Amino acid sequence: MNVLILNGSPRRHGNVSAMLDAIREEAERNGASVTTVFVPELQVKPCTGCMTCRKTRRCVLPEDGAQQVLSAIDRCDVLVVGAPCYWGNMPGQLKIVFDRIVYGLIGESPRGLPLPLHKGKKAILVSTCTTAFPFNILFGQSRGTINSLRAILKWTGFKVVSAIELGGTRQHPASEKILNRCRKAIKKCM
Ligand SMILES: Cc1cc2nc3c(=O)[nH]c(=O)nc-3n(C[C@H](O)[C@H](O)[C@H](O)COP(=O)(O)O)c2cc1C
Repeated sequence: MNVLILNGSPRRHGNVSAMLDAIREEAERNGASVTTVFVPELQVKPCTGCMTCRKTRRCVLPEDGAQQVLSAIDRCDVLVVGAPCYWGNMPGQLKIVFDRIVYGLIGESPRGLPLPLHKGKKAILVSTCTTAFPFNILFGQSRGTINSLRAILKWTGFKVVSAIELGGTRQHPASEKILNRCRKAIKKCM
C-alpha cells in the first residue's frame, strides 16, 4: 500500500509535522510504503487561469513541483494532507499546488460534468490552529481549513475517512492523545 503525505506546514517540527510523523510511523509499522512531500519546499509557479489544461490534460507552464506532487498522487492508495490553519484556510503554497493539478484530479464528461480520477482511494486530513476548541470549529478556523480541503477532494474520488483537528496549539501543542488519534486514523486505512 502506498501512502502519500503532503505536509503543508513550513515548520518541520511544528504540530502538523508531529501529527504527520505519527501517521508515517504507524503506516510504516503496518508495512506501507510512505512518501512525504514538504510542500513549502517545492518550487511551484502559480496557476495562470488559462484553463488550457481542462482540454489538453496538461499544464502550459514548465514542469515543476506541482507535477511532482501529481505523479505521487497518481501512485498513492491513501492521501494524507496536513495543513495548519492560515486565515481560516490552508497555507498559500499548498493551495497553489492544488490549483496547478486540477486536470490530474478531476476529468470532464462530454456534457461538462466532473469525473473523479481517483475513485476508490482514501484520504485523511489534518489541521491545527491557535484558536482554542470549540471556537476552532465554531468560527471556522481549523474547520475552515478542513472544509477547503474537503471542497478540493470532493469531486476527485478520494473518500475522506478521517479529519483530525487540533485547536489551541499555543497553550496545548500536539499531545500523545492527538497523536494516537492520527495513528488510529491511518491504521483504519490499512
Ligand atoms: C500566516 C498565518 C496565519 C494564521 N492564521 C490563523 C487563523 O486564521 N486562525 C488560527 O486559529 N490560527 C492561525 N494561525 C496559527 C497557526 O494555525 C498555528 O500556529 C498552527 O498550530 C501552526 O501549525 P504548525 O505548528 O504545524 O506550523 C496562523 C499562523 C500563520 C503563520
